[in-house]
Formats: sequence, C-alpha cells, structure tokens
Amino acid sequence: MEFFLDTAEVKVIKKLSETGLVDGITTNPSLIARSGKDFLKTLKEISKIIKGPISAEVTALDTKGMVQEAKKLSQISKNIVIKLPLTEEGLKTCKFLSKKKIKTNVTLCFSAAQALLAAKCGATYISPFVGRLDDIGENGMSLIQDIKSIYMNYSNLKTKILVASVRTTEHVIQSAIIGADVVTLPPATLKELSKHPLTDKGLDAFLKDWKKTKQKIV
Ligand code: E4P
Repeated sequence: MEFFLDTAEVKVIKKLSETGLVDGITTNPSLIARSGKDFLKTLKEISKIIKGPISAEVTALDTKGMVQEAKKLSQISKNIVIKLPLTEEGLKTCKFLSKKKIKTNVTLCFSAAQALLAAKCGATYISPFVGRLDDIGENGMSLIQDIKSIYMNYSNLKTKILVASVRTTEHVIQSAIIGADVVTLPPATLKELSKHPLTDKGLDAFLKDWKKTKQKIV
C-alpha cells in the first residue's frame, strides 16, 4: 500500500519525505488556502522533493475550463496528477484526459456508484472521503470495502482506490486490511503510525539496563 501525504506545506513534505515513507502528495484548494502560498509555485517546489504522484485540483466547473487548467497544471512537472471533482463535467474531463494518457484523481467521492462511474471513465485514482462520511454518522470504511468488491469483479477496471479524508490510524489499518491501493495521510497521522506506548516503555527499560552494563557499542 502506498502512502501519500495530504498537505501543501512544503517544509513538512521535505521533513517527512526523509522517512522514506512518502510515495506521493495530495493537495486540494483548502490545503493551498491554508498554506497561504502560491498554488503553482508550491506544486513546482513539491515536485523537486517528491518523485511520485502529486495531485493538483482544478477549480473550473465545466469541462472546457477543467481541460485548460489540467494542461497548465500538467506542464509544471511530469508527476502531476489532475484532480477532478466527481461531477458530470468532472467525469467527462476524466474520460477526455485518460484518453490522452494524463493521470487523474477523481475526488469528493461519497458513494460506490460514483466510484464505479469514475473507473468507467478511466480514472487513475478514485478518492473516497472516509472521514467526512464518518462525520455525518455513516461508515466511511464500508464504502472502501464496497468499492474494492466492485473493482475486483471487473478486471478491465484499473482505477486505484486512494483513501482520503483519513482522520485516524485505524482508517489506515482498515484500508490495508481491505486492500486499498493508497491512503493519503495528514502529517500528524503519518507520525502517529509509528507510535506505541509499549515501544517507549520497552526502550526506556532497555536503555536503563544497558547503562548498568557500562558498555559502549562505538
Ligand atoms: C485528499 O485528497 C482530500 O482532499 C482530503 O483527504 C480531504 O480531507 P478532509 O476531509 O480532512 O478535508
């Protein structure tokens, strides 16, 4: 399973990429607004750090505008993936771009039906938002399970499941159990994954005992 970082903060991306765990990046207009930085310059900077896929979202609502924006975004770097909203116009654009071999990430997916349509339109990635479904009392992870079951029924559907709106480490574990292709993680969730109180407790005990031996390795 691949790990993408769900952020537009270049410094954070640089730091966490040093772990070797970051396979790609997802951004959205809200994350760009939160960073307070220029969208196109930020993408350029990210592309110098991350060699994997970098999702950049269009803001036009019609196919013509989306295609124009997609062309501009694609010129920034060869690893830019065009993020399109799951609307009729977004799906039309997805079909058009996939025929041109431009990678797409269809976002704001909240149902299995939407995920099926995105796959039929040749989306490279589908982004179902698990956290936002949980927020309204639904079960985000059962959507991932449904999409996985549907995609597995049809070998011609090549779309990868990119679990988005991840809020907890449990979302990551459940995604891995289901067999989702990618999770996009807020930086704090990626850091949280390596933590366990027994690891800290165990390390503390080992180091105390080691000190008693008065030995050194180097
Ligand atoms: C990523 O592609 C999505 O835009 C993001 O995960 C949404 O997360 P949120 O629901 O926490 O805003």
